[in-house]
Amino acid sequence: MSEKNKFFSRFLFYLITVCMFLLILSSVSLVQFPNTHFIPRSVFKIILVNSTSLFLKPNDIKFPFFSSTATNLTMSCGSLSCPNSIVGTSRCQRKKTCGRNQALRKLKVYMYDLPPEFHFGLLGWKGKANQTWPNVDSHSLIPPYPGGLNLQHSVEYWLTLDLLASNTSKVGTALRVQNSSQADIIFVPFFSSLSYNRHSKLHGKEKVSVNNMLQGRLVQFLMARDEWKRFGGKDHLIVAHHPNSMLHARKKLGSAMFVLADFGRYPVEIANIGKDIIAPYKHVVRTFSSGESAQFDDRPILMHFQGAIYRKDYACPQIHYLADENSNSWSRRRIFQIKFERLWGAIRQELYYLLKDEKDVHFKFGTYRGDGINKAGQGMASSKFCLNIAGDTPSSNRLFDAIASHCVPVIISDDIELPFEDVLDYSKFCVFVRASDAVKKGYLLDLLRGIKKDLWTKLWERLKEIAPHFEFRYPSQPGDAVDMVWKAVLHKTSSVQFKRNRKNRYVRSEALLKRV
Ligand SMILES: *[C@@H]1O[C@H](CO)[C@@H](O)[C@H](O)[C@H]1NC(C)=O
Ligand SMILES: *[C@@H]1O[C@H](CO)[C@@H](O)[C@H](O)[C@H]1NC(C)=O
Ligand SMILES: *[C@@H]1O[C@H](CO)[C@@H](O)[C@H](O)[C@H]1NC(C)=O
Ligand SMILES: *[C@@H]1O[C@H](CO)[C@@H](O)[C@H](O)[C@H]1NC(C)=O
Ligand SMILES: *[C@@H]1O[C@H](CO)[C@@H](O)[C@H](O)[C@H]1NC(C)=O
Repeated sequence: MSEKNKFFSRFLFYLITVCMFLLILSSVSLVQFPNTHFIPRSVFKIILVNSTSLFLKPNDIKFPFFSSTATNLTMSCGSLSCPNSIVGTSRCQRKKTCGRNQALRKLKVYMYDLPPEFHFGLLGWKGKANQTWPNVDSHSLIPPYPGGLNLQHSVEYWLTLDLLASNTSKVGTALRVQNSSQADIIFVPFFSSLSYNRHSKLHGKEKVSVNNMLQGRLVQFLMARDEWKRFGGKDHLIVAHHPNSMLHARKKLGSAMFVLADFGRYPVEIANIGKDIIAPYKHVVRTFSSGESAQFDDRPILMHFQGAIYRKDYACPQIHYLADENSNSWSRRRIFQIKFERLWGAIRQELYYLLKDEKDVHFKFGTYRGDGINKAGQGMASSKFCLNIAGDTPSSNRLFDAIASHCVPVIISDDIELPFEDVLDYSKFCVFVRASDAVKKGYLLDLLRGIKKDLWTKLWERLKEIAPHFEFRYPSQPGDAVDMVWKAVLHKTSSVQFKRNRKNRYVRSEALLKRV
């Protein structure tokens, strides 16, 4: 190559580089400084409008990014952050909870007026003739949910109460509407967990248990409704928190959005994280306020576990239920189920042999009942770490008891699904251990003994902040478990809406253009 050519190609190289740089700079400044007048606003609008496929008059369009007064949506997102989403957290997860259109959005819920036998009737409530719902204005008139371990799965009750109160109370995410075509979601007020817990047995000459009878009638009712037919049930919300609730109806109602404890006993085509919501158990130990929670040095026990043991020949009664169903996917499921429960039982036992002789470890078998609940609560509140080892299902109320006791959860359950994980980072207040690691000799002890006061205190501080998200109560408060479940539903419905809009963009745009 001659000298001249070399010089020319080098010159060209520099020229192109400089041009590229200027081009990038100019486009960046256009985006960055919308209100300075590099280009008149009107020209800008023309460019923008005509680069889209819509031909509307400039005045019909408002650009949130370019108008000098930001629109409601962007503004409210910036300023609202916490009150709207997460209460009691020092760090607000603004970006995640504050989606573009859901900052101020309420979830509009239509609730079927099912007869009382599906809900409060199961609690022994009898209204006046034709009265469907109890009066929720006064606490003394609200039928109480049975205590003890039934309470774990009471999310159905708290959600229903919140809806009954939602047209009188101003706070909260859910708003009850009386016209189903204006609703984002249709709520099915069936207390399915209570129905399973209390009415599964046959009495006298009954051929069908009350639990199964109600499920059959619910399916009949829903299939006949226009609301169900409209989207094939996709916009219906059904609470089935007890893993065995809705056992007979779940397949027919599988298109609906479920509120569940976990997916352990569901085939993936009926329940999955794509459409369903994981809700926490209601903890059964008492709530500790932030102030009375013991610090690192005041918790003498390193590790706490209390739960059921699984003997080698242990056969879980649920297997018989699953065997009733004779479709292929169900029988495959049954085989999986047996293996699953054996495996987890084995891990509990192995851990027991590894840990039973340690002085600062509480590792006991036996479920807690009666006063056992209090004892367990005290035990957790004086422990630094609480073990959550999967039992017959991937989830259990133990995790939520640990959170309420501000005892840092150690999660040994590879298949666990955690509530509200789209807005909560569990690794900030839990320790996750793979089951295969946990059963190595010395692994767990070394790991937990290695977590010193500083780090533990960080986890504990965060634990105290997030604990209120796991409190079910009435009346519901912003950021409590009831509100968080509604927010999760809102999030899901928005994403359903998002997918629907995305899928239909061309169809709708073309329809619009035809009309113009
Ligand atoms: C965009 O271009 C079309 C023709 O291509 C024109 O009729 C229309 O007025 C333009 N839109 C604006 C906002 O100027
Ligand atoms: C939102 O817009 C409405 C009117 O459209 C206005 O009254 C209200 O003050 C705005 N809110 C915010 C936060 O800008
Ligand atoms: C209850 O409803 C039935 C029909 O749905 C009606 O005939 C009856 O009068 C109602 N009773 C009262 C007390 O409103
Ligand atoms: C609240 O809901 C009830 C129906 O349960 C309805 O009769 C009443 O009018 C509603 N109140 C308001 C203020 O919307
Ligand atoms: C319910 O809402 C739809 C759409 O907003 C409306 O067309 C219908 O008339 C409403 N029905 C009643 C009973 O108000």
